Amino acid sequence: MNEDRLMGLVHQAVGDFGSILTGALVVLGDRLGLYRNLAGAGRPLTSAELAAEAGCAERYVREWLNGQAASGYVTYVDGRYALSEEQAVAFTDESSPACVIGGFQATMAATRAIDRLSVLFRTGEGLGWHEHHDDLFCGTERFFRPGYIANLTASWIPALADVEGKLHRGAKVADIGCGHGASTIIMARAFPESTFTGFDYHAPSIDAARKAAADAGVDDRVSFEVASAKEYPGTGYDLVGFFDCLHDMGDPTGAARHVLASLAPDGTWLIVEPFANDDTADNFNPIGRLFYSASTLICTPASLSQESGTALGAQAGETRLRDVVTAGGFTRFRRAAETPFNLVLEARP
Ligand SMILES: C[S@@+](CC[C@H](N)C(=O)[O-])C[C@H]1O[C@@H](n2cnc3c(N)ncnc32)[C@H](O)[C@@H]1O
Repeated sequence: MNEDRLMGLVHQAVGDFGSILTGALVVLGDRLGLYRNLAGAGRPLTSAELAAEAGCAERYVREWLNGQAASGYVTYVDGRYALSEEQAVAFTDESSPACVIGGFQATMAATRAIDRLSVLFRTGEGLGWHEHHDDLFCGTERFFRPGYIANLTASWIPALADVEGKLHRGAKVADIGCGHGASTIIMARAFPESTFTGFDYHAPSIDAARKAAADAGVDDRVSFEVASAKEYPGTGYDLVGFFDCLHDMGDPTGAARHVLASLAPDGTWLIVEPFANDDTADNFNPIGRLFYSASTLICTPASLSQESGTALGAQAGETRLRDVVTAGGFTRFRRAAETPFNLVLEARP
């Protein structure tokens, strides 16, 4: 046995213990408004001042602040605490692609499934998306929305053949597995001449999406309905979007067939999936670590809970996704764009 390698593992694990617990502290800080109060104060605060601002007990807040300062998420100077400009963006600015709050909320929510999954690992049964803690639904939207704001209308749609112009002129769009509707609403803001319908099988998400569309003032051209990917209504769609949901479905090939039937003859299917290389070992890096772990807790059980239970997993990669799409009857398929987090795929009839 190599003692240095062993100690390297132990050091890594100590960092990971801290990460797991820090995740809980970040969720607390977000829920209780501790980051927002710290950022809004405009000057470094003592723990007593922050506790008073946030309506919390000082002793708890002092311990939280020291844990956050040790994480580098809060800045400590001479007995007072503040957020640097960068820390304020990461923990309070939900319009920024650098905002990390939603990632913590979603990942912490996913860990709540371990008791159920320790049974399901033995039986092979699934756990539906809808069976998770509410924080998963809200956290996922907050995690993904900043990336959609940065990329969807600026680079992903322009990378598709013949789509951006149609959307400007007035197109019919469906957003499947839309969750809280972040992608639907971002597209509706950018393309006021088009009409958008978001579909998701999870009724509470559809309720949240309707409210978000009304709050955003786009409900004149956006509607949301409860429907599964294989049964959503309508035909003649110019664009159908699947944002981070194809791999969650039990029967992605059946969904592909339904998309094909619902598209206009020259329509486009936009599939956004987690970035992954085709070879498993090429995903053994920090992003693959995040996605394989999320896939174990969320995506694989979600697919196993549905008909067919294909369980592509969140690291399916382009080749397996192409197989699903072409098995569904599409003849054209290409990678239109990518980011470190996403594959952006275009399928056409
Ligand atoms: C990871 S979330 C992504 C949500 C949203 N597209 C986004 O990017 O924020 C996956 C979504 O797929 C939905 N979903 C899973 N299986 C589905 C199915 N068979 N039909 C419709 N929606 C489904 C879930 O309810 C969930 O909202």
